[in-house]
Amino acid sequence: MAIERIIDASQHTDDTEEQRIEISLRPKTFDDYIGQDRLKNNLKLAIAAAKKRGEPIDHVLLYGPPGLGKTTMAAVIANEMGTNIRITSGPAIERAGDLASLLTNLSDGDVLFIDEIHRLGRTVEEVLYSAMEDFKLDIMIGKGPAARSVRLDLPKFTVIGATTRTGALSAPLRDRFGLIHRLEFYKPTEITDIIVRASNILGSQIHGAAADLLSTRARLTPRIANRLLKRVRDYADVNGDGIIDQPTAEAALGLLEIDALGLDAGDRNLLISIIDNYGDNPVGLNTIAALTGDEATTIEDFYEPYLLQIGFIERTPRGRRVTPRAYTHVNRSLPPKTL
Ligand SMILES: Nc1ncnc2c1ncn2[C@@H]1O[C@H](COP(=O)(O)OP(=O)(O)O)[C@@H](O)[C@H]1O
Ligand SMILES: [Mg+2]
Repeated sequence: MAIERIIDASQHTDDTEEQRIEISLRPKTFDDYIGQDRLKNNLKLAIAAAKKRGEPIDHVLLYGPPGLGKTTMAAVIANEMGTNIRITSGPAIERAGDLASLLTNLSDGDVLFIDEIHRLGRTVEEVLYSAMEDFKLDIMIGKGPAARSVRLDLPKFTVIGATTRTGALSAPLRDRFGLIHRLEFYKPTEITDIIVRASNILGSQIHGAAADLLSTRARLTPRIANRLLKRVRDYADVNGDGIIDQPTAEAALGLLEIDALGLDAGDRNLLISIIDNYGDNPVGLNTIAALTGDEATTIEDFYEPYLLQIGFIERTPRGRRVTPRAYTHVNRSLPPKTL
C-alpha cells in the first residue's frame, strides 16, 4: 500500500520505530496475552497434553484479520512449550530447497512459524505437508537420468501457520493442522486493557477516560491501539507534560481525522462511493475495488473485516451491501424502500 494509514492494521514494515515498539509490547505468556479466551483455553489444553506425553503440540493454524495477535500468539505458544521458534513467511520460502534447509536445521520440539502461509508456492506447499504429516522429507538429488530421490528423517517439529485468508489454503495443507483457530476482534474493554498495559511498558501515564477514548477508535485491533497510543503519547510529550488525559487524547485524535468509530477518510469514501453509485444494491468485491482504486485483496483483508464487524456492510450471495446504519454514519439519506 503506497500511503500508510494510521488505522491500517497491517504492519508498517518500513517504520523501524513501530517495529521496535511492537517487539517491546509483545506479550510473552498466556497471562500477558489479553483476550482471545477461547483460543487460549484450547491452546493451554493442547500444550498441557503435549507436555504430559512428552511430545510437541500438533500443528496450529491461526487465521483472522491483520493486527489481532497471530504472530504474538505463535511466540507465546513456543514460550509456553519452552521451545525455540523459527520465523519465516510464505513468500520467503521460494523453492523446495529453501524449505528443506529450514526443516533440516530444526531441533526436536521446535516451532516453525510461517506467516502468510497462503502465499507458499505449490511445490513448496506439497513438500511441507508431507513433512508435517510424517516428519520425513523427500528430496531429489541430481538432475536428469542420474536423479534419485532420498528420504530424510526430520525432527518432530510444530508448524504454526498464520494467514488472513484460510480460503486461499489448499485443502491438503489445511488438513495437516490439528488445531485451526480464528482470532476474533477484541472487546472494547480488552482494547482498553491493552492500551493501559502498553502505556505502562512505555512508561507513560494515561488517564482511564483517555484509554477508553483511544479504545473506541482502535477498530477493536491491538496493533491499531498501540499505534494510536504512540501518536497520542508523542502529542502529549510535545504539547503538554506527557500525561495523557482525555482532552489531550481528544486533541491528538482530532489531528488524525479518525471518527468516533475508528473510520478514516478511506473507509468513509468506500461507503459513500458504494451508496452514491449503487445505493443499497449488492456489489461485487472487484466493483468496490474499482470504485476506490484499491486492490480487491486490500478491501477484503483490511477494510472489510471491521466494516462487517460493526455491521456497516453485510455479505449477501450477490455481493456486499451497505447497511442503513452506515448511511446515517456518513450522512446519506436512506434509500426510500428501507425507510
Ligand atoms: N492479546 C494481546 N494482548 C496485548 N497486546 C497484543 C495482543 N495481541 C496483539 N498485541 C499487540 O499488537 C501487535 C500486533 O500483533 P501481531 O501478533 O503482530 O498481529 P498479527 O500477527 O495478527 O498481524 C503486537 O505487537 C502486540 O504488541
Ligand atoms: Mg503477524
